[in-house]
Amino acid sequence: MSDIEVNDLPDVQLAGPVITVDGPSGAGKGTLCQMLAAKLSWALLDSGALYRVTALAAKQHAVAMDNEAGLEAIAAHLDVQFQVSDKEAGVQVILEGENVTSSLRTEETGAIASQVAAINSVRSALLERQRGFQQSAGLIADGRDMGTVVFPSAELKVYLTASAEERGQRRYKQLLGSGNNANLPQIIEDIRARDDRDMNRSIAPLKPAEDAIIIDSTSMSIESVFDQVLQAAVKAGLLSE
Ligand code: DC
Repeated sequence: MSDIEVNDLPDVQLAGPVITVDGPSGAGKGTLCQMLAAKLSWALLDSGALYRVTALAAKQHAVAMDNEAGLEAIAAHLDVQFQVSDKEAGVQVILEGENVTSSLRTEETGAIASQVAAINSVRSALLERQRGFQQSAGLIADGRDMGTVVFPSAELKVYLTASAEERGQRRYKQLLGSGNNANLPQIIEDIRARDDRDMNRSIAPLKPAEDAIIIDSTSMSIESVFDQVLQAAVKAGLLSE
């Protein structure tokens, strides 16, 4: 079993290459990043999970969304572990000793995370923790500001997007597939609202880094996206053919 303690201090000596993958929710970043991390045997940072965990901790401690100092304190003192004990079950997220994996991915948590993520001091409190995921082998960093703010000198930057309708369809199918009820127009509306918040906040807004390669996955399979990124990684000297 390997645990990653997000409280670990970053070790600059260990800093290896980084591939950043930014883009709006539902564009396929999570799947792409898992495929890249497995192919390269690199570590993986799911930065959205840190904002989601902050949202859950705020809810748990009844810290209101307008209590900036309270939210900053929550982000600065997160007691969270990402455990990979069973490949089938995937990463388990333990917050203050409690397994919160199932509530992490809900729409409600995502919506609160998006609000929490718009607060400057929360982002600053999470910055070094994110950089602490860097490892000598290499790191795949998944998020919104990985290439623009957290890892500006990354060796390869990808911006993965897709239309809101396509992302809504994917989420809709995913929810139906896991036995949930789902309302497609509502999902698309929520996606648009989240995009709007993430792209128009004053701090670290979602946008492609100037040196990012932009991939629109609206009519692409995840395998084609993966192949395109691998080719770019070869070109950047991160991988041999
Ligand atoms: O990727 P995700 O859906 O798990 O992210 C949840 C929220 O966190 C999303 O609405 C935006 C925010 N986020 C962010 O602002 N910066 C990141 N690097 C990652 C996520």
